[in-house]
Amino acid sequence: MPGLPPELRRLRVTLTSGAEDLSELFSDLGAVALAREGEVVTGEFEAGRPGALEDRVEAFLHLVDPAGTARLETALAGGPWLEGWRALFLGADAGRFRIRPPWAPLPADGVPVIVDPRGAFGSGLHPSTRLALRLLDAEVEARSGQSMLDVGAGSGVLSVAAARCGLKVCALELEASARAACARTAAANGVGLEIRDAALAAIGRRFELVIANLPGPVLRKLAGQLRAAVAPKGTLIVSGAHVEELPGVLQALGGEAPETSTEEAGWAAAVLRQG
Ligand SMILES: C[S@@+](CC[C@H](N)C(=O)[O-])C[C@H]1O[C@@H](n2cnc3c(N)ncnc32)[C@H](O)[C@@H]1O
Repeated sequence: MPGLPPELRRLRVTLTSGAEDLSELFSDLGAVALAREGEVVTGEFEAGRPGALEDRVEAFLHLVDPAGTARLETALAGGPWLEGWRALFLGADAGRFRIRPPWAPLPADGVPVIVDPRGAFGSGLHPSTRLALRLLDAEVEARSGQSMLDVGAGSGVLSVAAARCGLKVCALELEASARAACARTAAANGVGLEIRDAALAAIGRRFELVIANLPGPVLRKLAGQLRAAVAPKGTLIVSGAHVEELPGVLQALGGEAPETSTEEAGWAAAVLRQG
C-alpha cells in the first residue's frame, strides 16, 4: 500500500489463527483498505478513527492468541513499519512545545521537541507531562540563560524543551535506561544537557528553576530536598500527583498557597516561588 496520504495509518498483524476474524474486525472498525495474505492482515485507517483502535485490536488478539505470539506492527503515512501500537503516536502540543516522535513531520510553528516515545516515560502524552510543559512554557522566557534542574527527567522531554528555550539544564534520573533515552532525546534535538544519576540530596547546588514530574508520594518524600535545590527568587514546578494528593504535597513543600495550580484528567501541577 504505497503512497499513503498523511492522514492514514496502517496496522499489520501476523497471527497463526484468526486471520479471517481479524479481517472482519478491521472491516467493522472502518478500515478504508484491507489486505490479507495468508496469516498477515493489513488494514489502513483514517487517523484517529475509530477511537481506541489499538486497544480493540489488542483485546481481540488476547482472545484469539492467548499465547501472545501474534505480531502487531504499525506505520504512519510514509513511515517504516514499527513494532507495537506506539508507532501511531503523532505527537502532542503543550504551550509553545510541539512534542513529536522522530517519524512525524515537524510543525512550522512553536518549539519542536523530538522524543521517541518508546524509550522512557515522557512521550508528551501523559497529562502530568503536558501540565508540566504548560507551566514550563510560562517560565522559559524570563528564565532564558538561567539554570534548571529536572528531577526525574525520564525521556528528557522537559529538559530538552527548556534547553531549546535557552536554559542550562541538569537532568537528574535514577534509571540507567531512562538516562540513555534522555541522552538520545538531547542528541535528536541538538541540545546539550548535563545528565546526572546523583541523588537529589547530593546535587550540591541550587537552580533558578526546578521542575519535578514525580508521583505524589515521591514528591512528598523529596519535598524538603526540592525546596533546598531552588535558588533564592527561583521557581519550583511540581507535577505528577493526583488531584487529591496535591494538598499533601503542598503541605510537605512548606504549606504556602501555590502561585498557580492546574489540573488535567485527575492529575495536578503547581508553581511555587522561592522567597
Ligand atoms: C513520571 S516520570 C517523568 C518523566 C518526564 N520528566 C516527564 O515529565 O514526562 C518520573 C521519572 O522520575 C524518575 N525518578 C523517580 N524518582 C526519582 C528520584 N528520586 N531521582 C531521580 N529520578 C527519579 C523515574 O525513573 C522516571 O523516569
